[in-house]
Amino acid sequence: MMPYFLKSYGTVSSTNDCAKALALAFAPEWTAILARQQTKGRGRRQNSWESQQGGLYLSIILYPKNVECIQLLTFAASLAVLKSIREQYSLKPAIKWPNDVLLNGKKICGILTETSFGKKTACIVGIGLNINQKKITGQLSMAATSLYRETGLTGNIIGLARDIIIHFQEYYSSFEKKKFNKILNEWKRHCITLGKTIRVVSKEGTITGFAIGVTKEGMLLIKGSNGKMRICNEGEVSIR
Ligand code: BTN
Repeated sequence: MMPYFLKSYGTVSSTNDCAKALALAFAPEWTAILARQQTKGRGRRQNSWESQQGGLYLSIILYPKNVECIQLLTFAASLAVLKSIREQYSLKPAIKWPNDVLLNGKKICGILTETSFGKKTACIVGIGLNINQKKITGQLSMAATSLYRETGLTGNIIGLARDIIIHFQEYYSSFEKKKFNKILNEWKRHCITLGKTIRVVSKEGTITGFAIGVTKEGMLLIKGSNGKMRICNEGEVSIR
């Protein structure tokens, strides 16, 4: 296990922004920022991320050698979240491409990985996990839930943060050794998007088709209703 440095804060704008500032000041790898709440939590695709007390808001600073495979780094982070929840709650969450973690069909976790180019490329892996929130508000609240809402159990936020970091370190060592298949295969076993008819809304428009697989870079392969193959590297999936 590598050492890690968990810094806990009360209220911040976004833990990803705190982490970015620290990376620019050469914070060591595995510096992690945990906040009790965020005033400007950010999600993928310009969404905001509801960040009231009770959730986990964690950003981890990494300086990976393999910056061309960032999507797989994010896959690794979602696997670490999955494993931690499995151990703490004996539940089996699923993954929706690219890296949403779902419980009973509703989202409990999202990951936003951002790169920042200073002297060396820093990757900030930002993890938002709904743990103890009694209510989920905001625009995406219908499709979201928390571990508390699904189980009635109150979770230990700092304990989960530590577990996620430790499991992420295990997957990260595969990533740095370029054992990408190890990450991809495990990710595929938990992914509910593959083998389904789906709709993806992305910057390039909307595609409806059959999700046949992922590329080794983590992009989604879709066979369109017209039989044409399409590759998606971002987007919001809904299962038909
Ligand atoms: C998503 O849209 O699914 C990604 C959500 C990522 C939210 C986390 S919370 C911790 C970190 N700080 C942020 O501002 N965003 C990420």
